[in-house]
Amino acid sequence: MELQEAMNIRKSVRSYTGEQISREQLDSILTAAYEAPIGMGKYDSIHFTIITNPELLKEIDANAAKFFGNPSMHPLYGAPMLIVISSNSEGNVASANVGFILQNMSLAAVEEGIGHCDIYGAIAALSQDKALLGKLNIPDGFTPLGALAVGKTTEVYTKREIPAGHKYVINEIQ
Ligand SMILES: Cc1cc2nc3c(=O)[nH]c(=O)nc-3n(C[C@H](O)[C@H](O)[C@H](O)COP(=O)(O)O)c2cc1C
Repeated sequence: MELQEAMNIRKSVRSYTGEQISREQLDSILTAAYEAPIGMGKYDSIHFTIITNPELLKEIDANAAKFFGNPSMHPLYGAPMLIVISSNSEGNVASANVGFILQNMSLAAVEEGIGHCDIYGAIAALSQDKALLGKLNIPDGFTPLGALAVGKTTEVYTKREIPAGHKYVINEIQ
């Protein structure tokens, strides 16, 4: 798949069949993660937690729903896998590292035809619940900054027009 096409058809998928992706598909997503740029090449500042345990996923989902004040919502959308990315540093470089990794993984998911969605809200909620956070066994000093929900979906990635409302303010200084 051409890069331009992958970027165009990429979208956030919020419905999942519940079926796991294959090991090969996960490997392709993780390869894309390794290919991401990382500030000053500090790869050891990043930690991955891949959660497929259904009970733990339910707890993270319910905790986020409670955090958002709507117990009937499902902020993980029933995705059977959550890839949590943690960092042991703070600031704009740490946030950017996670963003670059997520975007690479997203494009790999698109190429594989796998559903995926960036998950930050549920991660913010998770960070507030120390007992639940403890169940992730994240190494001391690392904080979860973002995550990718991943799984099979019946949704398809199709060509998208950029909506009129998607505008940035661009100031050119010549
Ligand atoms: C930093 C960041 C955090 C996001 N967090 C969430 C989230 O917690 N839950 C969610 O459903 N979508 C989340 N998204 C997805 C955005 O809502 C989505 O990318 C945006 O609405 C544009 O839609 P599209 O991805 O389909 O093009 C996040 C995206 C980014 C870049």
